[in-house]
Amino acid sequence: MSSKTLRLTQPDDWHLHLRDGETLSTTVPHSSRTFARAIVMPNLKPPVTTVEQALAYRQRIISHIPKGRSFEPLMTLYLTDKLDAEEVQRAYDEQCVHAIKFYPAGATTNSESGVAELECVYPAIEKMAELGLPLLIHGEVTDDHIDIFDRERVFIDNVLSPLTQKFPKLKIVLEHITTKEAVDFVNSQGDNIAATLTPHHLLLDRNDLLAGGVKPHYYCLPILKRSSHRSALIEAATSGSPKFFLGTDSAPHAIETKETSCGCAGIYSAHAALEFYAEIFEAANALDKLEGFASFFGADFYKIPRNSAKITLSKNPLSVPAEYIFGDSTVIPMRAGETVSWSIEETT
Ligand code: DOR
Ligand code: ZN
Repeated sequence: MSSKTLRLTQPDDWHLHLRDGETLSTTVPHSSRTFARAIVMPNLKPPVTTVEQALAYRQRIISHIPKGRSFEPLMTLYLTDKLDAEEVQRAYDEQCVHAIKFYPAGATTNSESGVAELECVYPAIEKMAELGLPLLIHGEVTDDHIDIFDRERVFIDNVLSPLTQKFPKLKIVLEHITTKEAVDFVNSQGDNIAATLTPHHLLLDRNDLLAGGVKPHYYCLPILKRSSHRSALIEAATSGSPKFFLGTDSAPHAIETKETSCGCAGIYSAHAALEFYAEIFEAANALDKLEGFASFFGADFYKIPRNSAKITLSKNPLSVPAEYIFGDSTVIPMRAGETVSWSIEETT
């Protein structure tokens, strides 16, 4: 008897960390196996802050695409205090830079160059609003005295809400949302405000991270929240609302930087990303909503054509290896040594 299958328009990943150098030979083949395009995060060391750097990084990514595959990296710039309106215009004119990423200074991996005072970059933001270039936001405050589990909620109240009032036309993607408050905020706004949802925030909660021993490979930012928030995220992802779309935030780190006394934030999911989402949507009895979330809504928001290729998933288990080579080290993938209940059959 043949197993259950699911045929979808080929999806895109609207939030991805590919890293750089030798590690691209692991990350690019994984993502290009499934996704036609990906919004590539700029938090390299040093960060991608100019159009020239973005174009050079794009070429390094392209040189790692396996033969016979097509994969389009959609580049982003890292918002720093130095980004001016002219560079925003150049980014827009160049057409391969699709968004600008805002990390509050110190919020997460390689965010030291992030923005301390948003007022300093108002001219750049004004230009983005005028051009329709989206601002991608890591929505967490960084103040030491704010509890790590509250940082997204406080960011929405203290930073995001005023920002949307100051720039009502600005296109914003609130990235990797983790709370019911974020879902409610996005739902309360116009079409210019959307959000991405990761497989890990849809599959895991803070008990998975902390109960019975700390699991460094489940440590990510924003940190996993309590299960009631996870339920709100699942509801948003499977609602059919075009405001919520796929962004894995797959963020690999070498094993020795995770399994240590002060470990890096980030979960690697690119090896089985769509398969994880299929599990989530099936468990929510919403497989019919997966195609919009994975393949339509992001492209529509970014105003680029939907893909025409198709991808077929089948209900055959995918075995995830214990580790992957990652430059001169290894990376532990999500679900390492276990199975995911869906696998990709073919892309045509
Ligand atoms: O967990 C995370 N890892 N969150 C981020 O925002 C950044 C990412 C990374 O680059 O490692
Ligand atoms: Zn990210």
